[in-house]
Amino acid sequence: MFKFTLNQNDVAVDADKNLLEYLREDAHLISVKDGCAEGVCGSCSVLVDGKAWRTCKLTIAKVQGKAVTTLEGLSTREKMIYSWAFGEVGAVQCGFCMPGVVISAKSLLDQNLSPTSAEIKNALRYNLCRCTGYLKIERAIQLASQALRDGEIFSAEAARPKWERAWFAWTLKISCWGQVNLSMI
Ligand code: FES
Ligand code: FES
Repeated sequence: MFKFTLNQNDVAVDADKNLLEYLREDAHLISVKDGCAEGVCGSCSVLVDGKAWRTCKLTIAKVQGKAVTTLEGLSTREKMIYSWAFGEVGAVQCGFCMPGVVISAKSLLDQNLSPTSAEIKNALRYNLCRCTGYLKIERAIQLASQALRDGEIFSAEAARPKWERAWFAWTLKISCWGQVNLSMI
């Protein structure tokens, strides 16, 4: 008999088996995705005692006595902030990688609410995303960290550094000018 906590509830499992298989097929926690089953993509990640682990490489026996948290186990406030932040900057396309990405983000932000770009990249080193590109994901994690820190949700535009806002405003003017000039030819 193996005992551990799963999303803050005590569970006991008779026989050892692969943790990803248990979470999806027995516990019906389908946020945990089976992307590669080989420890490469990170889409099966969960928190084990606060750290992100790939469940396709774990067994029930290895989490004996530990606290396992899947995306379903996040608080309502955390779910709201992460879904807002990733949506706000367009960091989600197919969404298959997102549960694993958010687990890696939570593992980082639970320890450090003002992460540097290098720290975010390091936290995401085991997560593959084939759709969005990592810049938007990094931006979403910065936005989530700001919302968790300040306790409020705001527009992504307002969170951009001043120089970035000025640069976008300037390039927008140039592109408008270009369009006017072209339409006059
Ligand atoms: S399914 Fe576990 S790392 Fe890809
Ligand atoms: S959003 Fe599609 S793989 Fe990441």
